[in-house]
Amino acid sequence: MTPTVALRRFRPEDLPALIALFRDTIRRVNIRDYTREQVMAWAPDAVDPARWSTLADRFTIVAESDGVIVGFTDLEPDGHLDRFYVHADRQRLGVGRAMLAAVVEEARRLGLDRVYSEVSITARPFFESQGFAVLVRQEVEARGERFINYRMERRLDGR
Ligand SMILES: CC(C)(COP(=O)(O)OP(=O)(O)OC[C@H]1O[C@@H](n2cnc3c(N)ncnc32)[C@H](O)[C@@H]1OP(=O)(O)O)[C@@H](O)C(=O)NCCC(=O)NCCS
Repeated sequence: MTPTVALRRFRPEDLPALIALFRDTIRRVNIRDYTREQVMAWAPDAVDPARWSTLADRFTIVAESDGVIVGFTDLEPDGHLDRFYVHADRQRLGVGRAMLAAVVEEARRLGLDRVYSEVSITARPFFESQGFAVLVRQEVEARGERFINYRMERRLDGR
């Protein structure tokens, strides 16, 4: 049976759990599509605290199931979806779909005409299934590693 997922806004005390989930998901799930060197550069042991402090200022959604955090995402005011991660042990159970629905609802409430993101190779099929289209395939650099990802957007007008 699929467990129920509850969504709520971010609380500062969530931060350590979200960083742990981020690291674990990248190292266990994204490793399908990226090298060991790439995932360690993307999700190092020591993350940048300044980069993570932004969660508190954004529309950040935390997904919980039976009191355990199973996913999170943060939307910026211009429709940019920054982070979007589901727990490695809770993949393909509808957590991502539920989080995206909340983000889209908020984007519509803000009057935005699109949401967009830089999407991993791993996440591309999920975003395609949720109405996103690839704008461009790009190569980005982080901590000395080069990564392929896709700039994708979902138009909100009409639907
Ligand atoms: C991408 C991600 C967030 C999707 O979350 P999820 O909770 O597993 O996705 P859902 O269960 O809500 O999937 C909804 C639909 O998306 C599609 N989908 C999801 N994962 C898919 C995959 N690996 N391959 C093909 N389709 C997929 C399916 O249509 C699915 O519906 P179905 O299961 O009924 O067929 C999750 O896989 C993840 O955390 N990936 C690693 C982190 C990452 O790359 N995040 C993006 C940052 S760039």
